[in-house]
Parts: sequence; structure tokens; C-alpha cells
Amino acid sequence: MSEKLGRRGFIKQAAWMGAALAAAGKTAGCRTLGRGEAAMAVTGLVCPPMETVRVGVIGLGARGPGAVHIYAGLPGIQVTALCDLYKERAENQQKWLKEKGKPDAAVYGGSEEAWKKLCESDKVDLVHVTTPWLLHAPMALYAMRRGKHVAIEVPAAVTVDECWDMVETAEKTRRHCMMLENCCYGESEMFAFMLCRMGVLGDLIHGEGAYLHDLASYKFNKNGYQGMWRLNFSKQHTGNPYPMHGMGPICQYMDINRGDTFDFLTSVSSDQRGLSQFAVDKFGKESAEAKETYRLGDMNTTLIRTRRGRTIMVQHNTTNPRPYSRINTITGTKGTLADYPLRVALGDKAHGWMSDAELAALKAKYVHPLWDKKGEAARKSGGHGGMDYLLLLRLGYCLNKGLPLDISVYDTALWSSVVELSERSVLKRGASVDVPDFTRGGWKRAAPLGIVDVG
Ligand SMILES: NC(=O)c1ccc[n+]([C@@H]2O[C@H](COP(=O)([O-])OP(=O)(O)OC[C@H]3O[C@@H](n4cnc5c(N)ncnc54)[C@H](O)[C@@H]3O)[C@@H](O)[C@H]2O)c1
Repeated sequence: MSEKLGRRGFIKQAAWMGAALAAAGKTAGCRTLGRGEAAMAVTGLVCPPMETVRVGVIGLGARGPGAVHIYAGLPGIQVTALCDLYKERAENQQKWLKEKGKPDAAVYGGSEEAWKKLCESDKVDLVHVTTPWLLHAPMALYAMRRGKHVAIEVPAAVTVDECWDMVETAEKTRRHCMMLENCCYGESEMFAFMLCRMGVLGDLIHGEGAYLHDLASYKFNKNGYQGMWRLNFSKQHTGNPYPMHGMGPICQYMDINRGDTFDFLTSVSSDQRGLSQFAVDKFGKESAEAKETYRLGDMNTTLIRTRRGRTIMVQHNTTNPRPYSRINTITGTKGTLADYPLRVALGDKAHGWMSDAELAALKAKYVHPLWDKKGEAARKSGGHGGMDYLLLLRLGYCLNKGLPLDISVYDTALWSSVVELSERSVLKRGASVDVPDFTRGGWKRAAPLGIVDVG
């Protein structure tokens, strides 16, 4: 079997056709935009408009409450259910909603599987998953099979099999399955997207993204990630477990899954030093933490080549002391945008970055409509500088209006697949690994993501 098609290969391809046909028309009026084979897949999936989207949020640790608070302030959305392993975390959010004068939300929790009841509730249309990584795919799959749309924190899945399961389940159930890649809605990222869409950077050639964020102290904090899930993942895996913050926006600039797609990748990791050093410094040389084996290399560098001959470099480092960066760099035949800090160089003047005044003028000319119209509200709401707000605003708007979502299940799967594929390459001394085409050729026909708005 061809490596390119992966474990599921041709048999699954045929099975998908059958499943999609069988499912077509069975799910509450949802349909896909497009014709023929493309219409069976779910790029451009549209469902009947929902006047009020009823959201159930699972996972109310560090991240989840922020989503509850944003949803509570959006039109056309109501938080109707809350769940956490620690029931009091759900109750605290219920109390918060009450204090804000919002309608009551049902509370679930107190056991490993209480979330299933939330997925089964007929008062929930959209399940929002904000739990530890290993629970994302099981929760999303269960919810879709109970007729719910799902929005899942990053990474949506941690294995290629889970990615295929998500694609096949979304196709079969005609449910939305969107990874919540908030960085696609960042102010600089949306400005870069506009420069790409309007041809200012020419033909795109190369992108660079990253997640460079020193989380060592948080990983070792017993009151941090619940059950220390992130540290545990670092003990068991190498490669890049969190590629999408840097890579997702680059994929949107380059129309990945919508005119181009990944071909293969190669990935190399440095040795692991940072976690061990942190453990020695904090707990002592003889501590269990210092003697532990951590498999995650400090710096991972993954290089992806696309079918149309472009390249994307993605890095991950969450252990060494350094300022935060997602790199966010895109180069085309006419210029380059780089971030951290934001810079642009264009045309025959591109040997140097443009002046602050020139950059300000360019930003004003190519401001994305979402930031133009809702930037002030986004900044006020907060959440990573406002991008969390725009992500959920746009998600709610699409469901209210019955529009396709900006991030499809194919994006969700492709971006998440790099978690396992980068690890596979690292373990083979950086050997190239083919990336599955989750759209099975649909990327050649899918229309590029437009310059989206909220009316
Ligand atoms: N997009 C972003 O900018 C961003 C930022 C932070 C975190 N995240 C993602 O959000 C997710 C959560 O991260 P976090 O920092 O909030 O972690 P966390 O550990 O603080 O929170 C996870 C919550 O899930 C709950 N949980 C665990 N098992 C459960 C179960 N069986 N049923 C119900 N609830 C359960 C935990 O009790 C905890 O409250 C992760 O996937 C992370 O990668 C994304």
C-alpha cells in the first residue's frame, strides 16, 4: 500500500465514498456546496441557520472559562451546558453566568465520563472541547455521533488514525468539526492573509511558523495542567505536538486544502535538556523529576513541502527560556512579511524593512474586515489580544447564518496529523514522511477561503 495514503489507504477511500453517499441527505438538512464527488465531502458544509446556537463546554480549567465568557457576550449564542471532571469548576462557571444575568446552564461532571451526558443532551447544538489533548478526539467523535457540531481546542487529534476518524465521522454525520485555531484570527495574521489574498506578496513561496513559548514552570506545576497532562505527553512523545498556532495561518495564506496541500515532511529534534535542567534547579539533582526521562526534544524543526512546490518551516519549543514567538513569516515573489516584531519588505525596496510610517499605511490599507469592524470589541474582550473573541464571533455567526466554517474538518485533520507525522520522521533521523491527503483530491476543487466577515 502506498505510504501516501497511510494505514487506511484505498480500502478506506472506497468505504468513504459509500459512507458519504449513505449519509447524504440524512442529517437535518445539512448539505455541501459543490458538485459531484466534491459535494459528498464536507468542505463547504452548510447546515440550516440556527437562530441561537446552544453551546456545551467540556473542560473548564485554565482555558475553558475564557470561552464561556466570550460566548456569553456574543449575539445568537447561549451556553446551555458545562462539564468538568471537577464538578465545582462547572458550577463556578454556572455561577458566573447567573451573576451576569444569563440563562441557567446545566452542569455535568464529577466523573471521567460525565461529558457523555452533555453530548447526549438535546439542549446542545455545539460541543466545545477544552480538555487535555488525549481526550479531544474521543469527545469530538462521540459528540458528532450524537448529532452535535464540534469545536475542539488545539491539537484536535494526536494520531493520524484519530484524524481519519474525524474526517470520516464528519462526512458520515454531516456535522461541523472545527479545530479552534485562534491564531488564524490574530491581527497580524489577518493582515498577512490580506497581503497574500490581494497579491501584494506575489506568488507565495515559503512560510515559517512556530510555537516558541517557555512553559517549563507551568508543566511542572502540580496545580497547573490537570493531572500534569502536558508534562506526561513530553515524557512519552517527541516531534512537534503543537504545530498549528504557527502553521494554521500559513496554511490559510497558501490555500492549503483549497488549491494546494501538503506532500511530505521531514522533522528533526534537538536533544532534550530544558525539562531536566528545570527539574534539577527546582527539585534537586536526586529528585524523581530530575531522574525522569523526557522524550520531547527541546527544539523541533519540521519542514513541509506542498504539492505546488512551496515550503513551510514549523518549530516547537516549550522548554527553553526565550520570548514568545509564532514567527509568522511569509515570503512570495514580490515581498516578505515577518512578525515578532511585525515587518514588511516589498519589491525593489525589499533589501530593507519598510519604515514604521509605511507599515502603518499598509496596515490601514489592507486591514481585514473582521479587525476593521470588530477590532475594538475584540481588544476589549481580550483573549490573546482579541483573536479568541474573533474566532468565536465568526464561528457563531457562521452557524447563525448557515455558512460554511472557516476551518474545515480537513484542515483540522491535516494540521493535527503533523503531531504524529513529525514524531515518525524524528524517530527515523529526519526521513521524509508522506502526508495523507484527507480530502482525497478535494483540495484541487475546493475554493480558497475568502475575506470573511460578520455582516
Ligand atoms: N488556543 C489556545 O490559545 C490555547 C491556550 C491554552 C490552552 N489551549 C488548549 O486548551 C486545552 C486545555 O488546556 P488548559 O490549559 O485549559 O488545561 P487544563 O488542564 O487547565 O484544563 C483542562 C480541564 O479539562 C478537565 N478534564 C480533564 N478530564 C476531563 C474529563 N474526563 N471530563 C471533563 N473534563 C475533564 C480538567 O479537569 C481541567 O479542568 C488544551 O488542549 C490546550 O492545548 C489552547
